[in-house]
Amino acid sequence: SNVPIIAIDGPSGSGKGTLCQTLARHFGWHLLDSGALYRLTGMAADRHGIALNDELAVAELAKNLDVQFVPGADGEPTLVLLEGDDVSGELRTEKTGLLASKVAVLGAVRDALLQRQRDFAQLPGLVADGRDMGTVVFTDAPLKIFLTASAEERAERRYKQLKSKGDNVNLATLLMEIQARDKRDSERELAPLKPAADAIQLDSSGLGIEEVFERVLAEAKIRL
Ligand code: C5P
Repeated sequence: SNVPIIAIDGPSGSGKGTLCQTLARHFGWHLLDSGALYRLTGMAADRHGIALNDELAVAELAKNLDVQFVPGADGEPTLVLLEGDDVSGELRTEKTGLLASKVAVLGAVRDALLQRQRDFAQLPGLVADGRDMGTVVFTDAPLKIFLTASAEERAERRYKQLKSKGDNVNLATLLMEIQARDKRDSERELAPLKPAADAIQLDSSGLGIEEVFERVLAEAKIRL
């Protein structure tokens, strides 16, 4: 297709989320937060009492996700409604991340979300945030970034992020949860977390948001 796409993959806490938002705003492009789709699917299963390993039932939920993204006025964050309920807070918790990584191992669920994700590729362009954007969903993306950072640094960033939202979190627990989720994401059979062959690998440890953004911008000038 003729839609320019920047595919950004990496583990949780690598700074992908912020980077993608900054890039999307900079270019005036659409943003796909693919993790949110897996999170919402996990939450929907939890709500409906569907076992997280009931592949067909969870895939059915994924196909029919009743989600609305309501942009906040005056720089307020976007509200996320699942089946009409505001789940914006719950969406980002590590508990939800765990639900997401459990339903994300299911092939039928990944298939169910594939077209929904590809539909985000609209002019003038798309910044896609996830684990398999470069390897599965947008294999033709002209710019692919694989963003990493040490587990400790990622846990600390997540800690600050959750703490600032008023979550009562513990750093050591968070580190363990993040490592467990990374392991599940990296070792799964389908669309495991790994850099695409043509991805640029970037380690954000010790780098500020601004520095990471500038580096990606420099690559964008070359590749897009
Ligand atoms: O990026 P985020 O932390 O929101 O993703 C939550 C979980 O959803 C990940 O740990 C992973 O298991 C799953 N996921 C995925 N493929 C994507 C995005 C997220 O499997 N493209």
